[in-house]
Amino acid sequence: MNNTKRSYDDLFKLVIVGDSGVGKSCFLLRYADNAFTESFISTIGVDFRFKSINVNDKIIRLQVWDTAGQERFRTITAAYYRGADGIIIVYDITHRQSFSAVVGWLEEALKYVDDGVPFVIIGNKSDRTDRQVSYDELEQFGKKHNILYAECSARTGENIDNVFLELANKLLLKKEKINDVQKIDDIKPHKTSCC
Ligand code: GTP
Repeated sequence: MNNTKRSYDDLFKLVIVGDSGVGKSCFLLRYADNAFTESFISTIGVDFRFKSINVNDKIIRLQVWDTAGQERFRTITAAYYRGADGIIIVYDITHRQSFSAVVGWLEEALKYVDDGVPFVIIGNKSDRTDRQVSYDELEQFGKKHNILYAECSARTGENIDNVFLELANKLLLKKEKINDVQKIDDIKPHKTSCC
């Protein structure tokens, strides 16, 4: 008999993608360890961290994957989309090209993830004043594609907890809806063959 008690109510896998240098590793480091580093050490392949949070009186364990933005790792990172419950696409507000690349990341992820998996678009480095992408542009993009969006700073921590909380909330609601449909299916009278 297995007596080990699970310490969480739900586990969700999240995957962070985006161009190299936009701050994906720093974004995760800030969220998981509340730390920041100025140094830029490009991720090789993938890395992941766990963090448990409280959402609506439930303990949600998030398994967050940080992928490499460099083109040469694209085939490796593609494998990590599978089974993802949510995708976070990061760009750098001071680097227009990384914002233009968001559409490509979105299309790439859609090839691998299940229908209805929520996406979040993050404009990182909001602490910087030399921006090339306005908040309005992010807002328009988010509304057009009907996805969550926010500007954050891995350096100051601005908005990062909120993003994960909002995403976890969305995932929980989605799961509860699916469970409700299953319950309704269970009580539907089943067709039985007769004579
Ligand atoms: P790859 O691993 O190559 O895909 O890059 P990455 O997206 O993981 O970038 P990383 O987190 O390594 O950050 C790149 C650089 O941006 C580093 O020098 C960080 O210090 C800096 N950086 C990351 N986030 C922020 C931020 O919010 N504000 C500022 N000012 N700098 C940041």
